[in-house]
Amino acid sequence: MKITFLGHATLLLELEGHTLLIDPFISGNPMVPDTISIKGLKPDYILLTHAHQDHVLDVEEIAKQSDPKIISNYEIAMYFQDKGLRVHPMNHGGSWTFSFGTIKYVQAVHTSSFADGSYGGQPGGFVLIADGKTVYIAGDTALTMDMKLIPMQHKLDLAVLPIGDNFTMGIDDAVIAANFVECTKVLGYHYDTFGYIEIDHKKAKESFEKAGRELYLLGIGESMSI
Ligand code: NI
Ligand code: MN
Repeated sequence: MKITFLGHATLLLELEGHTLLIDPFISGNPMVPDTISIKGLKPDYILLTHAHQDHVLDVEEIAKQSDPKIISNYEIAMYFQDKGLRVHPMNHGGSWTFSFGTIKYVQAVHTSSFADGSYGGQPGGFVLIADGKTVYIAGDTALTMDMKLIPMQHKLDLAVLPIGDNFTMGIDDAVIAANFVECTKVLGYHYDTFGYIEIDHKKAKESFEKAGRELYLLGIGESMSI
């Protein structure tokens, strides 16, 4: 599984035979260089953790390019279905096996409303099982005891955790979250995009290292494989 960081909380997952895009926010992200754009992005599926603008901004434009299926909570799925997009609605605690693998929609402690004020359901994260790997994509969330449920059923190869603080967990809580989900490898996201969420990269990596975990911070456009 190849994971490319496209800035903020946007990830491109290249699986065997399928491409998944998560929380597309590229055109509005001031940190994204001119060399990267939504042009040419043709995902088979778009996974959305919640309805905030910094997670759904580019959904409709990208959908015009490849008619992907949107996977999210019920309210977000209906919102995009009303706009003519193909959707698969889920809700917390539910799993579904797709052509690429299995997804479970799990709890996140955050909020979820669209920029136009529409209700965006309750926010979540995803446990993705595909290509023989298991990845937890936390979405925007606080540290929550619900994370302890995940390793009861899943042995994670990677946890993608927000680390920018202010709107989500900060570094210290994310270190505890990595402990809760029992994962050694952590990919940090949701940091540096806005003034509120700037982090000290060196300090962040040291905090995880001290806890016996490894924090990956990818540059925008950079990839890792698991
Ligand atoms: Ni949010
Ligand atoms: Mn966000």
